[in-house]
Amino acid sequence: MALAKINPSKLSSWKKLVQQFDKECDHHISDFFKNEDKRLDKFSISWNNFYLDFSKNRLSNTSLKLLTNLCEETNLKNNIDKYFDGAVINETENRAVHHTALRTSGNNEVNKTLKKILNISDDINNSKRLGYSGKKITDVVNIGIGGSHLGPEMVTEALSYYSKGIKPHFISNVDHDFTLKLLKKLNPETTLFIIVSKTFTTIETLENANKVKAWFVEHVDEHSIKYHFISISNNIVAPKDFGISPENILPIPDWVGGRFSLWGSVGLIISIVIGSKNFKDLLKGANKMDIHFKNSPFEKNIPVVLALISIWYNNFFKCETEAIIPYNQFLAKLPDYLQQASMESNGKSIDRAGKKVDYETGPIIWGSTGTNAQHAFFQLMHQGTKIIPTDFIAFKNSLNDDSDQQKILNSNFLAQTNALMMGKKYPGVGIHKNIDGNKPSNSIVINKLNPLNLGSLIAMYENKIFTIGSILNIFSYDQWGVELGKSIASEILKDKKDDLDESTEMIRQLLKR
Ligand code: F6P
Repeated sequence: MALAKINPSKLSSWKKLVQQFDKECDHHISDFFKNEDKRLDKFSISWNNFYLDFSKNRLSNTSLKLLTNLCEETNLKNNIDKYFDGAVINETENRAVHHTALRTSGNNEVNKTLKKILNISDDINNSKRLGYSGKKITDVVNIGIGGSHLGPEMVTEALSYYSKGIKPHFISNVDHDFTLKLLKKLNPETTLFIIVSKTFTTIETLENANKVKAWFVEHVDEHSIKYHFISISNNIVAPKDFGISPENILPIPDWVGGRFSLWGSVGLIISIVIGSKNFKDLLKGANKMDIHFKNSPFEKNIPVVLALISIWYNNFFKCETEAIIPYNQFLAKLPDYLQQASMESNGKSIDRAGKKVDYETGPIIWGSTGTNAQHAFFQLMHQGTKIIPTDFIAFKNSLNDDSDQQKILNSNFLAQTNALMMGKKYPGVGIHKNIDGNKPSNSIVINKLNPLNLGSLIAMYENKIFTIGSILNIFSYDQWGVELGKSIASEILKDKKDDLDESTEMIRQLLKR
């Protein structure tokens, strides 16, 4: 039931892509529009509240066809089925990768946990679950890092318009000054702490949780911990040892990877902040995208097309990065979130057969919101020497009625994609103003930023990440590189590391002084 182990670079579609790339790599995107019949029809997908225009890419119809052949030759359809069936596709950790099951009903374990999440959030919002002194909970603090932080923070901020009133806070880094500053403004009587750690061994999270617990006990008492601390973990023993009451421990199944865990108990803070109905809509939106991904033909399948475009630029144009630019300030944390989701997944160099890859794997993901980004790094995108494939994410409607501001935002979005592709020549004015254009972009236009559409957007990227990993024959769901860093840090901390390299040892001594 494992994923197929096929080296993509040995396949005939890949070899043809190499030849085709040589033929078309210097073509201007605008020429594709002139020379290809109905380019916009073929290079766009309308689906539910989404419209993807991928016509502004340095990609011909012939190459797109070859890329879809690559899907066939790498057994993508079969691999997708295995992913959704919960097969053990994370072979190096002997686990299934089944976070998609968290957004379906039909699994008892999932339903039981979901019910618990929804009940806790309803009880808090309806003042049925109160602090130890009988006061309403006003603040909730998520203590966790990586996947136990980035998703919950990104989503609560993205959907803050839908907030039911409880204020979210996040402690992720080990930074005593930051934590202290936050604790100073919190009232222990009205604050709920959620300790989120799949393993419950992550140094940063345990350290922060211990600090917060000590603060709470100092201000209140040990006995009241049961009203104010919840933990979310795959570890059954450690949260109990920490002092969390059994009814306040929610599970993360081992088949849910940390960076894809916001759909289950890790999303508790999301459900508390936006309310249970909105949380259910978030799941529903993700599930709709999953169904689209499972059932649509490759050339009209949003996650698949985005993955193919990514592979094309990364492997043939040798672009090292991809930018994500949402034209919505509430999505400011989306690039950070996608950085972990994508780079921790596809940052690999050994293929599924255990061989060193002879091609590029995961790209570097970065980005920021438009229009801010225009005034920061867009100059390089327009006139620099690099090609940066970019996803522009725009919304048809704003949340509040101010169509004037939305028009300004969207005019800027349109201007950038147009200018990147078309450039401009200024005859007689001098060479410095000239802009060549031919810079690629995808436009993802969504009706409105709401829980349903955000769920679909996140699932769209998750499924893109899966597709890239599947085609490039890598294991997307382990993170051994990160684990190495974690274990060395722990040895250094315990003073047990006596084989550090000369340079690091020198700095260690310097830091001790
Ligand atoms: O960064 C590595 C990682 O293992 C992530 O995958 C995970 O989300 C994060 O650390 C936190 O781990 P845990 O939830 O076990 O504390």
